[in-house]
Amino acid sequence: MSAAAGSEHVRVGREEGVLTLRLDRPDKRNALNRAMYAALADALETVDPAQTGAALVLGSPGAFSAGNDIGDFLAFADGADGALRSVERFLFALVRCPVPVVAAVDGLAIGIGTTMLLHCDLAYATPRSVFRTPFVDLGLVPEAASSLVAPRLMGRQQAFALLVLGETFDAEAAARCGLVRAVLDDAETRARQDAVSLARKPREAVRLSRDLLRGDGAEIEARIREEIELFSGRLTSSEAREAFAAFMRKG
Ligand code: COA
Repeated sequence: MSAAAGSEHVRVGREEGVLTLRLDRPDKRNALNRAMYAALADALETVDPAQTGAALVLGSPGAFSAGNDIGDFLAFADGADGALRSVERFLFALVRCPVPVVAAVDGLAIGIGTTMLLHCDLAYATPRSVFRTPFVDLGLVPEAASSLVAPRLMGRQQAFALLVLGETFDAEAAARCGLVRAVLDDAETRARQDAVSLARKPREAVRLSRDLLRGDGAEIEARIREEIELFSGRLTSSEAREAFAAFMRKG
């Protein structure tokens, strides 16, 4: 695999026409900090469809991602500069990625670790995977256009259970509601095979077909902006600050 720019906790590689982005912060269950969002955005924004036919997002054994770094949330709540700019940049890079995005989940997929899957063209999960978006329990609101895409994908009630009730979906439930395509012991191998297979197909035909299936990108981008505005306001709310502080205290 040829090395490419990444960050301490995001390993970026290119092989057989596939851009691989591996989240690699296992001691923090792959919680995403600002440097990681920036590395992911850098890689996705510079995808050249002439060179790259698919992107593959992977995590660590047992942890795809525990979501946004709650320490960063707390810093934002305390007035740190640039609240959510890195998150927003990553989300736009993901939804504008010009090639199909494939993901493999093994273990925890929390917060944005779940919602980013709504923008993947294919995702696979191992049987031990769990999906949870505790936005409301943290005093926050859904992000990543999940409030728009999830009800369309799984129906309003399943989306409500996931995004508002904050219920944990196991791998089978995630497959039933279409968050992932299938539950497999070796999700990563299958995801890579699909990514390589996509990269070998006629690129322009893939692009046109994918655009037809994805629908209106402008609507998704508008919802991302709307959610981020609400989310930013919530970060400084007493409900959210208390929830972040409780998590950081638990030691
Ligand atoms: N932000 C910052 N640090 C996080 C984190 C997050 N989202 N998720 C996990 N970590 C850190 C923990 O603080 C801990 O750090 P420490 O070893 O320095 O104490 C380490 O990762 C391991 O987490 P731990 O809670 O001990 O592991 P676990 O396997 O028992 O539980 C989780 C894993 C993911 C269930 C639990 O850590 C959790 O609930 N995290 C918060 C998830 C969340 O709410 N994300 C935001 C969504 S919007």
